[in-house]
Amino acid sequence: MKFEAPRGTQDVLPVQQPPWEKLIRTAEELCAAYGYRRITTPVFEDTELFARTSGEGSDVVQKEMYTFTDRGDRSLSLRPEGTASVARAYVEHGLYREPQPVKTFFIGPIYRYAAPQRGKFREFWQLNVEAMGSDDPAIDAELIQLYSELLRRLEIERWWVELNSIGDRNCRPQYLQQLEAWLDEHEHELDEDTRAKRRTSPLRVFDNLAQKPEPVQRVLESAPKIGESLCAECQAHFDAVRRYLDAYGVEYRLTPTLVRGLDYYTRTTFEFMAEALGATLSLAGGGRYDYLIEEIGGPPTPAVGFASGIERLVLSLPGGWAEDPSIDVFFVVEDEEVRPEALAAMAELRRAGRSAETDYAGRSQKGQLTQAGRLRSDAIVIAGRNGATVRRSGQHDVEFPSLAEAVKSL
Ligand code: HAM
Repeated sequence: MKFEAPRGTQDVLPVQQPPWEKLIRTAEELCAAYGYRRITTPVFEDTELFARTSGEGSDVVQKEMYTFTDRGDRSLSLRPEGTASVARAYVEHGLYREPQPVKTFFIGPIYRYAAPQRGKFREFWQLNVEAMGSDDPAIDAELIQLYSELLRRLEIERWWVELNSIGDRNCRPQYLQQLEAWLDEHEHELDEDTRAKRRTSPLRVFDNLAQKPEPVQRVLESAPKIGESLCAECQAHFDAVRRYLDAYGVEYRLTPTLVRGLDYYTRTTFEFMAEALGATLSLAGGGRYDYLIEEIGGPPTPAVGFASGIERLVLSLPGGWAEDPSIDVFFVVEDEEVRPEALAAMAELRRAGRSAETDYAGRSQKGQLTQAGRLRSDAIVIAGRNGATVRRSGQHDVEFPSLAEAVKSL
């Protein structure tokens, strides 16, 4: 039997790690600079948590969850998104008693059973950033600006922000009535997928608009949009988000059909789109979810956040963005007699925080020098019976009477 990684998953091999490592480091530094602290939650949760928050009618819950029953007969699911988990932790540990907002981030794996394509996986990683406990529109703008700053640091180009507000409990019911009436009138012009979406949640008819057949897209473009029916409070909130984005110099495209695929959103929704892999891809998406925490048993708590797929970011990086790592010192050992001393010297250097490597493949001296070059070693120490040589590229070799002195010179 031949084993392969399960469909829709991937191995990130050591040679592929440098961009991952640098990207994750960049995101961590950025989150720290903006005051977001790491939170770690389990990779699986009660299935009900996701059903309750993402929505029974969402694709994520209906078709994409990895759900299983454990030996104690509990229904658990691998997390298909991170917001519900963070909200659960916020409620469970009473984080609403801390100074608000509570700003968190995590970088971890997410699971969705969907047809794999380029940039679409069944196991993928997300950078998830959340601010819980504030309805201030400046925090919506901060999150959007944070992510644009991340893209700038990653040197990713050709992206844009789509922005919308989808109202709240106040204004949405009235809008939905209008939309339902319009959908009744245009039922025959819709495709089966859109009709099915309507049955689960009418706002969902706008999901993935760009992927729908051209005529359906055109019809839906003329449907009433939530943005035209916002109540005064939602309108003021949205206006302020836009004002702050303008102050930050972050450009955006108003996109009245941007409703997002999860049920919990209110008010601000946004998505970062990019042209990559010959297609238009969502790099990140998010928005407000002012009722979610209340729905899972917490106090009424406005909140906002976003998540970005790490693989999609890696695929969008410019070539050469992350260099292959180099090491500080490679020990070339001429024969077994000097090896113990060389190994001890290597351990000493490593203890001092330097990176060091030697040969474990029985290479000739020439082969060891080649290996040192492959590892992009800064310095090479050639340990011989009668002393040692330190070699650096572009410099004359320096001879030392003993290995200890050679190492001391590094
Ligand atoms: P989402 O739009 O479902 O939102 O996912 C966010 C991002 O995860 C997408 O923009 C994309 O980069 C990445 N992504 C989604 N599905 C896949 C996949 N199958 N393969 C690779 N990457 C994928 C959420 O998950 C929300 N929890 C975001 C949020 C946080 N809203 C508020 N706070």
